Amino acid sequence: QTGYVTLDPGFVNTASTVSAITYIDGDAGILRYRGYPIEELADKSSFLEVAYLLIYGELPTAAQLADFTEKIKNHTMLHEDFKNFFAGFPRDAHPMAVLASAVSALSTFYQDSLDPFDPEQVDISSIRLISKLPTIAAYAYKTSIGQPLLYPDNSLGYVENFLRMSFGVPTTPYEVDPEIVKVLDMLFVLHADHEQNCSTSTVRLVGSSHANLFSSISAGVNALWGPLHGGANQAVLEMLERIHAEGGDVDAFVERVKNKEPGLKLMGFGHRVYRNYDPRAAVVKKATTKVLDRLGKADPLLDIAMRLEEVALADDYFVERKLYPNVDFYTGVIYKALGFPTNAFTVLFALGRLPGWIAQWREMMSDPTTKIGRPRQVYTGPTERHYVPIEER
Ligand code: SDX
Repeated sequence: QTGYVTLDPGFVNTASTVSAITYIDGDAGILRYRGYPIEELADKSSFLEVAYLLIYGELPTAAQLADFTEKIKNHTMLHEDFKNFFAGFPRDAHPMAVLASAVSALSTFYQDSLDPFDPEQVDISSIRLISKLPTIAAYAYKTSIGQPLLYPDNSLGYVENFLRMSFGVPTTPYEVDPEIVKVLDMLFVLHADHEQNCSTSTVRLVGSSHANLFSSISAGVNALWGPLHGGANQAVLEMLERIHAEGGDVDAFVERVKNKEPGLKLMGFGHRVYRNYDPRAAVVKKATTKVLDRLGKADPLLDIAMRLEEVALADDYFVERKLYPNVDFYTGVIYKALGFPTNAFTVLFALGRLPGWIAQWREMMSDPTTKIGRPRQVYTGPTERHYVPIEER
């Protein structure tokens, strides 16, 4: 079709993964989902519309979006027995551990949709994941603070339903500013896919063994938890809080990072692909000030973050290494302002990334040339040697 890239076979043999879903130009700071620039989608689209785009390859018509949205609404509830699941975890369990376990457990409740080669079963398990993840995330949070679980209210939109289940209580009606709903929806759009990052590659690798979608996504949740990946949004806020607690001396902190103090990195900075400003970070930075103004909240951590960026971008150490803010640098300030606990930030990343994981898994499964992922190695161990009886060692 016009406008589609075609690859010569030689290139295909060298590329680790061939995909038509997301395009990144790390030097130019470009990110497109199915050809659409992330800035346009963040400004004009919605999370469910972007989820449809990533999974089916085209922006939906009004009828297609209405049908997709309706299907998702019909699956937001969890099986009643599933609710016992949350009570079984320690109250202080990390919500990413609960989320990964719960997603894997979906394969025990929905044994009718595990066949990765049955299009209907793949569709229903995709819908079940998109509709149930917000419920699971909200229930994990409510359980951790000892508050009752609220059933989803399908008269609400996707994000509003999630916010209500997370922060609403049975005693009072839940009101939320539509502008805040729009910002969180936009943040989910920004996180929805990012080509072959660590967690997406994990989802594809697990799926390549023909494991079911629930198991593959659960593996992706676990990979995302790492502080070098999705867990960075939690690590950024902990870093900002640490700088604040130590008196807010940003210049001194940057010097300690440059001196490579063990375990000290500028979290939220740097990227495996972007050698320029992460286009998502630019959008998040603008949204951060809008949310704080809207909520009438001032946060010294935002000032520290902005000062960190200013100092780092003017410092050769970071410029030479092409270290710029990435998507995780500012998101935590917004999530904190919305009322989420720091350890739930990566769960929010997972909610956003879910459609991308699903789309990439479906693309991999639909490619008949896909073989089971089995990376080779360069062996650096001992050459052949023979067993030595223990008394001679
Ligand atoms: C995400 O892949 C994706 O697309 C991921 C993601 C997505 O949407 O899925 O974009 C989401 O994971 C964003 C990244 C979030 N992680 C962090 O913010 C953690 C902090 N960042 C770093 O850990 C690091 O920048 C990585 C892991 C993100 C990327 O590392 P690279 O490209 O492999 O860089 P490197 O480790 O080879 O480091 C190159 C140099 C080193 O210094 P020298 O050895 O040359 O002296 O840069 C330094 C590193 O020490 N460096 C940093 C740094 N990141 C790299 N120094 C200080 N602070 C940092 N953050």
